[in-house]
Amino acid sequence: MSKTTVAARPKPRPAIQRMAPYVPPTGGRRGKLRLDFNENTIGCSARVAALLARISSEPDFFAVYPEYTQARPKIAAWLGLKPEQLLLTNGTDEAIHCLINTYVDPGDEVLVPWPTYSMYQFYTELAGAVPRRILYRVPDLAFPLDELLSAINENTRAILLANPNNPTGGAIGLATIEKILARAGDAAVLVDEAYFEFFDVTALDLLEAYPNLFVSRTFSKTYGMAGFRVGCLLSQAENIALVAKGQSPYSVNSLAAACAMEAIEDQEFIRNYVAEVLAARQDIAAGLDRLGGAHYRSKANFVLAQFGDSMSNVCAGLRETGILIRDRGHEIPGAARITAGTREQAATLLAALEDVLAKVRQ
Ligand SMILES: Cc1ncc(COP(=O)(O)O)c(C=O)c1O
Repeated sequence: MSKTTVAARPKPRPAIQRMAPYVPPTGGRRGKLRLDFNENTIGCSARVAALLARISSEPDFFAVYPEYTQARPKIAAWLGLKPEQLLLTNGTDEAIHCLINTYVDPGDEVLVPWPTYSMYQFYTELAGAVPRRILYRVPDLAFPLDELLSAINENTRAILLANPNNPTGGAIGLATIEKILARAGDAAVLVDEAYFEFFDVTALDLLEAYPNLFVSRTFSKTYGMAGFRVGCLLSQAENIALVAKGQSPYSVNSLAAACAMEAIEDQEFIRNYVAEVLAARQDIAAGLDRLGGAHYRSKANFVLAQFGDSMSNVCAGLRETGILIRDRGHEIPGAARITAGTREQAATLLAALEDVLAKVRQ
């Protein structure tokens, strides 16, 4: 060993130095009523659980590196696309990461209507690029279309849109998306359809006409498979071939790929769950009206409620009863996001909320 070598701490890239750590409050959630992360609140389909049990008894299944020769064409066909138009990803998060890695250089601008899903800013900053927040309009949190269109410039390399949006719950229609695509030029436009099943409007039909359009889907929300980390990125085949160049060849594990294929077979489970969520969302909205909690109109599986100065106490009070909702006060003062699951869960929530509000307002 050379005596002159002095070990030193490696210097992180400036992008990492600038970033604040992102630590989601995900500890100790099992066993509680999880209305905080917009997950499916009852678990995945029984068909997926049965497949898992079968696979667990085949140790050889895990000995083989993942291959997507079945999953890719099957999921693509189910979406009405060619296999070359689909990239299987480790959740939507990896889809966002791969998209940014492909099109965004340090110093470039990425436009994000704000507030929105925090990983858009995370991966933009990780790339050393500049997230430009286009603020949702106050007080109704309407989509800032004109502001977004006029913010597009020659440095804009990507525009990231959640539709419906998290945490506001609002959604935009295809005509609005087309206006953005037409103005975006060669900037990549992502329409993140994580909550598609609750809204039922998709930009997939625009893929053929717009070479700058990307759509993402996930198995994390409606499908109850957030722990598997599986989603997909969809675009024209030429784009997907480019994005795939920057992806690890095995980032979606074999189990996740097999379960995603099984999950799409059980559309009855999805239909029933979506119907239940829409009814629960309606109950939560009506309950909030009754209890004097303002809320925003939602097209997703959650409701953004406005508790004003009481918000932290409301979240803490519910937590004491084993019910988790998500404090969004750092983005929208006084707001908390409540996931809609089943009607029974909504009733449990509203009963607890009534008690908590009575104490908080004393
Ligand atoms: C808009 C949006 N996209 C993506 C995700 C996460 O998706 P995934 O679990 O597939 O990474 C979320 C989760 O909250 C979200 O709100």
